[in-house]
Amino acid sequence: MNSDIINEIKKMKEEKNAIIVAHNYQNSEVQDLADVVGDSFALSRYCASIDAEVIVFCGVHFMAESAKILSPEKTVLLPEIDAGCPMADMVTAEKLREEKKKHPKAAVVCYINSSAEVKAESDICCTSANAVKVIKSVPQNEIIFVPDQNLAQYVARMVPEKTIHLWKGFCVTHHRVTKAETERAVALNKDALLLVHPECRLEVQDMADFVGSTSQIIEYVRKSSAKKFIIGTEMGILHQLKKDNPDKKLYLLSQGMVCPNMKKTTVESVYNSLKYMRYQIELRPDIIERARGALEAMLKV
Ligand code: 13P
Ligand code: SF4
Repeated sequence: MNSDIINEIKKMKEEKNAIIVAHNYQNSEVQDLADVVGDSFALSRYCASIDAEVIVFCGVHFMAESAKILSPEKTVLLPEIDAGCPMADMVTAEKLREEKKKHPKAAVVCYINSSAEVKAESDICCTSANAVKVIKSVPQNEIIFVPDQNLAQYVARMVPEKTIHLWKGFCVTHHRVTKAETERAVALNKDALLLVHPECRLEVQDMADFVGSTSQIIEYVRKSSAKKFIIGTEMGILHQLKKDNPDKKLYLLSQGMVCPNMKKTTVESVYNSLKYMRYQIELRPDIIERARGALEAMLKV
């Protein structure tokens, strides 16, 4: 049954000149189906460079929007219409405009986990993989950083010469992991390295051997000679990690590290997406134009 669907998907992909991209947090079967799997940064760069007519984006809404902003002439499909990112919804363009009035000299850096309207209000975008580089590249010494407070604090530490006004947004999946829970996980696996995403709380980051984006964590484990790792990010990443490192032991930092929105997309929804060409991402041309400036500025860094 599943192989029939997969064959149908492959057929439709060819007929429609489509490609399927998937984030590292997607269900394993969806990752296996994709032409490319990666972190937010790698996927945006990829979407900006390919010449397919249709992009099926297996991820959450802001990611598909970013693909549309970078390739407005393409049809971008999000297989599950309500796969959103609660953190991205924690800042609106209107609230950001109010913040800009309070700090008129500050540059606005938005995490890619934000809506197209918020990107349109920003000078430059960043992902967890390049946030430090992006902040260093901005000429202003004062920065409004939206929406993730944990990534903002991570960057503030790495670039102490800049003043960062942080927003109080957070990722439910990462922020819920406490210092006490992390201490327990470390005590249980004393000889394991702790690798965490910068969306984790600062006190959790402080205990880590490495802090990085999903793809940076994958690369770290691949290159490391260590044999045991506690993984402090969404459980979908374990699929790639296990494939790459069959001889290494991997423990999820917390069993609660599941992003329900990332898990909405299934093989069936990808099939329906291509069959019915749904759900198409539509954005106002003026929003695309302004948001594109922020994304392109990031891709140049
Ligand atoms: P990456 O930038 O590491 O892909 O992470 C995206 C995300 O949504 C993290 O929660
Ligand atoms: Fe958003 Fe967190 Fe899910 Fe990433 S893991 S998409 S930040 S809710």
